[in-house]
Amino acid sequence: MKSFLIEGRQSAAYNDSAFGAMDACRRDMIEFPDLTVNATAGTFWGADGRIAAYKTVYDLYDSIDPKRKAAYATDLLGNKDYRDAVFSWLNRLGNIRTAHSVIASPGGTGAVAFGVFNCVEKGDELLIPDIGWINYRVMVEECGAVPAYYSFLEGAEGAACNVSAADAERRGSADAAAQSRLGIADLKAQSRRIMEKQGRLTVVINDPCQNPTGASFGPELWADLMEFYNELSAQGPVVIINDVAYLDYSEDPENATRYFDAFGGLSENVAVLLAFSCSKLLTVYGLRLGACVILTQKQEDADSLQAAFVRYARSNWGTVNNSLMQCFVEIVRDHKDALLAEKQQAIDALSERSLAFIEASRACGLELYPYFGGFFVTVRVSDPGLLQRFDAELKKDHIYGVKYPGGMRFAICALQPATCASLPARVKAALERAEGK
Ligand SMILES: Cc1ncc(COP(=O)(O)O)c(C=O)c1O
Repeated sequence: MKSFLIEGRQSAAYNDSAFGAMDACRRDMIEFPDLTVNATAGTFWGADGRIAAYKTVYDLYDSIDPKRKAAYATDLLGNKDYRDAVFSWLNRLGNIRTAHSVIASPGGTGAVAFGVFNCVEKGDELLIPDIGWINYRVMVEECGAVPAYYSFLEGAEGAACNVSAADAERRGSADAAAQSRLGIADLKAQSRRIMEKQGRLTVVINDPCQNPTGASFGPELWADLMEFYNELSAQGPVVIINDVAYLDYSEDPENATRYFDAFGGLSENVAVLLAFSCSKLLTVYGLRLGACVILTQKQEDADSLQAAFVRYARSNWGTVNNSLMQCFVEIVRDHKDALLAEKQQAIDALSERSLAFIEASRACGLELYPYFGGFFVTVRVSDPGLLQRFDAELKKDHIYGVKYPGGMRFAICALQPATCASLPARVKAALERAEGK
């Protein structure tokens, strides 16, 4: 039979679990606006129950000359002042002490894509987290590679515990309990296995504030990990795609980049690609801006990667959002404190909402993945069939989350504290119906 598509392209209808759930929810909301719970969004919503759009950002953005908005970027790499501003933003502690170059991208997605589509051989394994952003898997398949998974949740009961249940009221010790369950043993083992098999390794690490768990390795685990990768790279090139999309929603954002210390002694055969996103930082999800910060030991290697990436950019999307680059430059130069104050309110709100959700989950015996912080909490459901039935039961009750391999994600970033307190009991009831109880 004739095919318009080349081999390897998938032609079955594409169902994105996040966008699909959002769409189903929107349709339900038209008929049942008061009953429907939208916990699908990957965007922060304010106390008014609508998506937040930081005033600092939009006042400035709206003041930009329309002719500037109309214009292309001045450089295919992204405007120079924007690239410099991104580097300074990430180098806030002055601890990126290695050769680097920067290229703008449409969102963090484009920055991750630079690495995946240019640094992985067809048929090779690409290492991604076993519970992680769904799009990594889509990218792996699109570039003709094979997904390999690592787990970063360890401990006596593995990931299968409601960590914060032990001490939900006292957030500090709950965080400590969760932190003790993070580990890099499996990440190292899988990396070793893949390096031995294919003589090169590309790995995606979404840290800090991993989606969906919010987990962050912190400086010590990163130092250990980088020592390992520097050694492993004696056997072949290692590319680490460090997706930092949620970096600025860490509980201590000023020190969130402390772990970059570990990139100081990069071996010649290791490249770190920091995939930066403006989406969450500035509440500009739809405006599409990010950057890839390439770190290598030698400047010529960073420049070569950048030269390959600019061809990829030119042939896939062209340039990125010109006026938003200008907006970012001006905000970090002149309005940084105002931005940080608005963002801090969001971080505080997430803290309140997560506590309400966790406490209510404990009360009704709903099992969550360890929660470390961030936009989401995830109910653990490892059986894919059960997950499917669970999703159907939730929908009957007009509740919409997003299915992840291993669980159902609820976006507390989009829920009010009262909903976070009442939802777990309804979720638990739906799960029990799905289990046939
Ligand atoms: C883990 C992770 N990485 C990257 C992104 C990229 O987002 P964007 O392309 O909007 O910057 C997202 C967005 O949801 C995400 O969850």
